[in-house]
Amino acid sequence: MRAKPRSISITSGKGGTGKTTLTANLGVAMGSLGHDVTILDGDLAMANLAIVMGMHRCEVSFLDVLAGKADIGDAIYKNYGIKVVPTGFRFEDVHDVLTKTKRESVEEAATELLRQTEFLLIDAPAGIADATVISIAAAREMLPVCNPTYSSLVDCHKTVRLANVLGAWTRGVVVNRMGKAADISTAEIEHFMGKTLGSMPVLAEIPEDAKVLEAEREGVPVVVYEPSCAASVAINELARVVAGGADLPYAPGKEREVGETVKRLIRALTGRRA
Ligand SMILES: Nc1ncnc2c1ncn2[C@@H]1O[C@H](COP(=O)(O)OP(=O)(O)OP(=O)(O)O)[C@@H](O)[C@H]1O
Ligand SMILES: [Mg+2]
Repeated sequence: MRAKPRSISITSGKGGTGKTTLTANLGVAMGSLGHDVTILDGDLAMANLAIVMGMHRCEVSFLDVLAGKADIGDAIYKNYGIKVVPTGFRFEDVHDVLTKTKRESVEEAATELLRQTEFLLIDAPAGIADATVISIAAAREMLPVCNPTYSSLVDCHKTVRLANVLGAWTRGVVVNRMGKAADISTAEIEHFMGKTLGSMPVLAEIPEDAKVLEAEREGVPVVVYEPSCAASVAINELARVVAGGADLPYAPGKEREVGETVKRLIRALTGRRA
């Protein structure tokens, strides 16, 4: 029997944390584990998932589907072993998309895609405005990507709360671009998330890695471009965790010593002592 299909929106709060990079590479990594994966560009106004996947000319895009001009099947392309539903990036279309797109139309498309795939990953826009709500609501699970900074964490916290309201389940967070001396540690991130949201483990730490940008410039997902680089290794490990074939990298929920800033942040957000 076919396993129950899963839909996961990849979100942040703050922009530029690495959602599009992760959607493309996690998708390709899960595909290479043998899963049937579809990735959908849900960043309707600032679409760029196709670029990261090296697809610069797509006759039909998700925007044509939303406009009723094409069927979803016509907007599915195959690349690097997975299915990709790109969204067009014509500036002239942006206003219409933002004003006319209905949540139901995206949910309908997601339901249709789930009939023909095992995992649907949706690249969501940053923030918590309407376009993000649409992407989160179209999926049953949410995978937030934050960077190891306080502002990114606070924004990520809001996104998880929004997902709770919308009924999407969040298993844990991904921390991307780790590696600078001033970064918040995984222990602090887990403590902060745990205290403000209940148990919320870090599912992966993806390091800052120059190969990611190099791969983006070449239009090749980094897990294909340089499979042995540090970022690719972390993304491949995450693929096993998300698909259910590996344990979490850390034991979640352990109390650890945390810094003063984390304690102050928790107090600001919850009114409670850390
Ligand atoms: N681990 C990493 N190491 C180095 N560079 C990275 C890493 N992850 C992402 N980047 C780079 O950071 C930039 C932003 O990444 P990306 O476009 O995936 O973020 P985003 O969250 O989708 O942004 P937006 O909010 O604008 O949609 C890209 O140029 C990408 O190549
Ligand atoms: Mg993006």
